[in-house]
Amino acid sequence: MMNSLDLDKEIVILAIESSCDETAAAVVVNGRDVRSNVISSQIDLHTLYGGVVPEIASRKHIERINQVIEEALRTANMTLDDIDAIGVTYGPGLIGALLVGVAEAKAISFARNIPLVGVHHIEGHISANYIENKDLEPPFLCLVVSGGHTHLVRVADYGKYEILGKTRDDAAGEAFDKVARAIGLGYPGGPKIEKVSHEGNPDAIAFPRAKVADGVYDFSFSGLKSAVLNYLNSCRMKGIKINQADVAASFQKAVTDVLVEHAMKAIDEYKVDKFAIAGGVASNGALRKAMREACARKGVKFYHPSPILCTDNAAMIGAAAYYDYIAGKRSGFDLNAVANLRLGE
Ligand code: KG4
Ligand code: ZN
Repeated sequence: MMNSLDLDKEIVILAIESSCDETAAAVVVNGRDVRSNVISSQIDLHTLYGGVVPEIASRKHIERINQVIEEALRTANMTLDDIDAIGVTYGPGLIGALLVGVAEAKAISFARNIPLVGVHHIEGHISANYIENKDLEPPFLCLVVSGGHTHLVRVADYGKYEILGKTRDDAAGEAFDKVARAIGLGYPGGPKIEKVSHEGNPDAIAFPRAKVADGVYDFSFSGLKSAVLNYLNSCRMKGIKINQADVAASFQKAVTDVLVEHAMKAIDEYKVDKFAIAGGVASNGALRKAMREACARKGVKFYHPSPILCTDNAAMIGAAAYYDYIAGKRSGFDLNAVANLRLGE
């Protein structure tokens, strides 16, 4: 397969992402040139229930996926005849949601005889950094912080990942969502906590910075979430009025401090000069600012995607699929959705 690859020619990837609550398709040329990036979000629907309802997510993906793909091709001014490969997220994520994208990708691949490349969702998040940072190449370290994941990853090369640490319980974004709900901000919590934090004092309440004894790079956010809930309960019991902005800002600071501390430790140990963040929480302004400053103090170059490329999208899947494709990776029609797919499998 590798012999037939002409790398002087542009490689056009049609990418599909449906692992959670966004139905997304994109056309990406040579991994970094995004010709279209269509995202149909279901957030409004799930907001009614305070979180993502898997069954509703699957059904909405089925309803929208064809239009989203057609729009991605139309916006890129291309047809399926122009596509060299189809990249699709096959895990991790909600199984029913993933299946919609995988089945669609396989159907197009089969009908049009276009090669298929299964992509790991976290590999996609990491690869979002390549799109706007044309100079970024491995090796580098990347912190992936989303609603489902908190992974500190060493990107040794394209497609070569080593997980240095991950969360033992809640993901960072999950903690944002749960705390937001507890202080009455609703779903999705991250952007709402960030917004009200601007009015609050990040040093108002001393929430814990959790350490994991037997894993220097691992994270734990459930203790922090419980500390916030305990604080809220004790205020209610004592009849003290809760300052929503102070709770939000202090919580956000506690999360940020831990993420920055772990990142800086890894930068020292692995002696890298490039550090990136990715995933929904990576669009958080306070986290970006803290990381940017901490990296600058070490003379390390800091990278992050634009907010639209931080949250789930298909352009990032197209970027990842390109590097897999030129490395000769292909998926067969036996490609299946894997809810708990591990990075590097
Ligand atoms: O990457 P993503 O879209 O989906 C997953 O793969 O999980 O991340 C969604 C998560 C949610 O938990 C959301 O609350 C969080 O990212 N998030 C944020 C912000 N924007 C989204 N968290 C903190 N600050 C933000 N500005
Ligand atoms: Zn994601």
